[in-house]
Amino acid sequence: MDVSLLERIVSILTVDKASPLQTKSAHTVSFPTAHFEKYKKENNPHDPDNRSFVYFMVGTAAVGYASIAKNMVVGLLTTMAPSADVLAVSTVEVDLSGISEGTSVTVKWRGRPLFIRHRPQADSARVVKPEWLVMVGVCTHLGCVPIGGSGDFGGWFCPCHGSHYDTSGRIRKGPAPLNLVVPPYKFIDDLRILVGSQD
Ligand code: FES
Repeated sequence: MDVSLLERIVSILTVDKASPLQTKSAHTVSFPTAHFEKYKKENNPHDPDNRSFVYFMVGTAAVGYASIAKNMVVGLLTTMAPSADVLAVSTVEVDLSGISEGTSVTVKWRGRPLFIRHRPQADSARVVKPEWLVMVGVCTHLGCVPIGGSGDFGGWFCPCHGSHYDTSGRIRKGPAPLNLVVPPYKFIDDLRILVGSQD
C-alpha cells in the first residue's frame, strides 16, 4: 500500500473518533451559577440573620390569626343578638290618653304586669311659692265645701259624697273628678297676694 494513502486513512480515523466529543462540547450551556450569591444571607451585610424574612412571616401569621379571631367574635355576637321577633315583644307602646288622673292601668310587658298610674298634678305646678298654697274651696264633684285637715290623706275631705284631697288639694279618692282649682294670683310682696290676676 502506498504510504501516503495509509497516512490519509489514519488521519480520517483520528478525526472520526474525536468528533462525538467535539459535538457534545459544542452543545454544552454554561449557567451563571454565581448570579444569586448576593441574596444569600451570609452575603447580605445589612441583614445577616435574615430578620426581614422572619418579621414578614411573623407579621403575616399575626394578621391571619387576627382575622380569624375577628370572624369568630363577630359570629359569636351575631348569634347572641336578639332576633326580630324577640325585639318585637321586648317593647310595648301604651296610649296614656285614656288614663285619667288618679287612675291606674295594667299592661303586659315581657310577660310581666306593668302598672301605670296617672299621678296627681305635681305640687310644684300648683304653687307660686312652695310655702303657700292657694285654692278655690269648692269640691270639684258637685260643689260642696271640703273640710280642711281631714280625710285619708290629711288634706281636705268633702263629706257630701266622700272625696279625699291631699295636702296639695289633689283628688286622691272619691267621686270628685279634678283637683281643687288653683285660681290666678300673684304676689304683690313677700306677704301679700292679689287673687284674680297673674299679670
Ligand atoms: S260634692 Fe264633694 S264629693 Fe260630692
